[in-house]
Amino acid sequence: MPAPTVIARLPRALALALAAALAGCNAGDVATKAAPPAASGAGVVSDGAAGGGTAGGAGPAAGGAAVAFVGAAAAGVVPLRAPTLAEAPDGPLGAAIRRGHALMLATRDSLPGHVGNRLRCVSCHLDEGRRPRSAPFVGVYGQFPQYRSRSGSVISVEDRINGCFQRSLNGKPLPAASRAMRDMVAYLAFVSRGVPVGARVEGQGFGEVPALEPDTARGARIFATACARCHGADGQGTAIAPPVWGPDSYNIGAGMARPRTAAAFIRWNMPFDRPGSLSDQDAVDVAYYIDSKPRPDYAPKADDWPNGDPPADLPYATKAGRRLATRAAP
Ligand code: HEC
Ligand code: HEC
Repeated sequence: MPAPTVIARLPRALALALAAALAGCNAGDVATKAAPPAASGAGVVSDGAAGGGTAGGAGPAAGGAAVAFVGAAAAGVVPLRAPTLAEAPDGPLGAAIRRGHALMLATRDSLPGHVGNRLRCVSCHLDEGRRPRSAPFVGVYGQFPQYRSRSGSVISVEDRINGCFQRSLNGKPLPAASRAMRDMVAYLAFVSRGVPVGARVEGQGFGEVPALEPDTARGARIFATACARCHGADGQGTAIAPPVWGPDSYNIGAGMARPRTAAAFIRWNMPFDRPGSLSDQDAVDVAYYIDSKPRPDYAPKADDWPNGDPPADLPYATKAGRRLATRAAP
């Protein structure tokens, strides 16, 4: 945004036009703040501010939802509502969205050089990235670039996707400018339509589970009775479910290798055919059990959380250690 001093130096007509545009911007912000988030079908429209320049520019806004431009501070929590693939536009953008969707489902077959295990994106981002508390993709597009304590830097949405390629899929990153990456980003932007930039969506992430004391022996029993019929008694997967440990599972650097993240995912999403049937304690016990099992290493992991603020359940040591915890208490 040009500073007022810059406007003052511009020819008068141009300065007026600029000032009007800026005022319009502000008015949009205020109006959006005042509107209840649930009224996403009737929000304030601000062209070009799409949950993504390219995806928002072409084709109709899906579901009649308007895309409002708001700063992260102004945006609240909005309901999770994603357009269906049938609502994707025709033409090249729609084709990219559909290819991106296909890559999420057939990740390994489509990108064998980038996937090092038997998982696919939707193994953890269930229902094609639409399920609440299964790290849905809805609204995620508008939250990047984003500061991440894991890298200690601001990352792009492409960096985030590559984090899952390298860790969750134990594979190799895609070039940011590759067609496959652009297609996946097109899909993310598409399912994020209608969510204000910077807003959080209900059920974003994996949900919460209290920090209970884990009992891995109990976890082993839960695994045998509630999980093995699909993931195999040895955790190596079957025809209907992927491995949860061993050489073909997510690696040690993956978010799912942190037992509290796994516990939340399992609490709300597993067993696949009876989600929500486990107690918090069951989910914690079985998550610590599967995350205590061997899985591929991730060599760069020691560079994670370079500012010394790793999460408490991180299963590996970092070079920076836990600097914050050693600071004097107030
Ligand atoms: C083994 C499970 C797993 C697989 C497979 C996986 N992810 Fe993830 N993904 C995660 C976890 C865990 C997080 C959140 C990590 C955290 O923030 O703690 C995440 C976060 C994300 C986010 C950010 C979500 C948010 O709410 O900010 C995106 C985007 C994403 N993954 C895309 C992908 C894509 C694309 C693929 C396939 C190439 C993929 N993931 C495969 C587990 C997985
Ligand atoms: C009815 C079959 C079934 C049962 C029972 C089941 N799962 Fe799953 N699980 C699945 C399927 C299907 C997926 C997603 C696979 C996909 O779409 O690629 C999945 C995904 C997962 C994932 C993420 C992907 C991976 O392999 O790491 C974890 C972790 C997981 N399940 C853990 C569990 C745990 C723990 C239990 C027992 C409490 C359990 N599951 C019970 C079918 C099942």
